Amino acid sequence: MYSKEVMDHFQNPRNMGVLNDFQAVGNVGNPVCGDMMKIYLKISDGIIEDIGFETLGCVAAIATSSMITELAKGKTLEEAEKIEFKDVEKALGSLPPVKLHCADLSVQALRKAIGEYRNTNS
Ligand code: FES
Repeated sequence: MYSKEVMDHFQNPRNMGVLNDFQAVGNVGNPVCGDMMKIYLKISDGIIEDIGFETLGCVAAIATSSMITELAKGKTLEEAEKIEFKDVEKALGSLPPVKLHCADLSVQALRKAIGEYRNTNS
């Protein structure tokens, strides 16, 4: 059912946990499945220097959270907010159609964190 990449990111999640030092957090949840994601950002000169996540949810929710942190790390805020759920899916090989919303939730969490950073630093 799940690709090799999904299982790898589920079993060995990258950037998991709260950062010691962060400037913004994006907290989202899907009311239908009940899954929740938080993404923490440490930003320096407009670049995502460090990123962490906490996710309570399904295999795909954990794998997509992990993957989006990998995709966003080192990018500018403008580049990171252009990441779409299809980019996350592609990077994970594939996702079952019923799990595409998990990738979308990870995108929403990242964009919410970026939005929070902008709100508090403008
Ligand atoms: Fe809803 Fe995975 S089933 S985020």
